[in-house]
Amino acid sequence: MAVERTFIAIKPDGVQRGLVGEILGRFERKGFKLIGLKQLTPSRALAEQHYGVHRERPFFNGLVDFITSGPVVAMVWEGDGVIASARQLIGATKPLEAEPGTIRGDLAVNIGRNVIHGSDGAETAQFEIGLWFQAAELNDWLPSDQVWRVEA
Ligand code: RTP
Ligand code: MG
Repeated sequence: MAVERTFIAIKPDGVQRGLVGEILGRFERKGFKLIGLKQLTPSRALAEQHYGVHRERPFFNGLVDFITSGPVVAMVWEGDGVIASARQLIGATKPLEAEPGTIRGDLAVNIGRNVIHGSDGAETAQFEIGLWFQAAELNDWLPSDQVWRVEA
């Protein structure tokens, strides 16, 4: 399985509810590698580009209003199969349908306040990482347990 990178963002509800450590910990404990991390309140232009595929949807303006309403913790995580695995860790879009044990299944109720975003594919991940981060903000490093990595 290929080493990949994905873009993850803790939305304003997750930050306001004090869930940053809880969520970061799940990605760390899974074994993924943190490559970039920052906290910002996104501009409207950034949010509209990020959710551009949903521009024609009825919830678009409310979604952009919400994501620009406060602090977001933006991250890049790296690892084998991290794009799909992160989506599994996050759980279904509707938190009431998300499995217990997932982030949304454990920590959220409302679809408009579902705590976290994760890229939904390789192209999206590349686009979103470039949208939210400068190249110089991404720092690759060698985990001291790298020797344990085995090919599947
Ligand atoms: P995200 O992009 O935030 O990681 O969420 P997702 O892939 O699971 O879901 P997506 O279909 O991309 O929808 C983006 C976000 O829009 C809000 N939404 N509201 N009211 C609605 O029917 C509705 N549908 C989607 C959610 O906050 C969702 O995370
Ligand atoms: Mg999405």
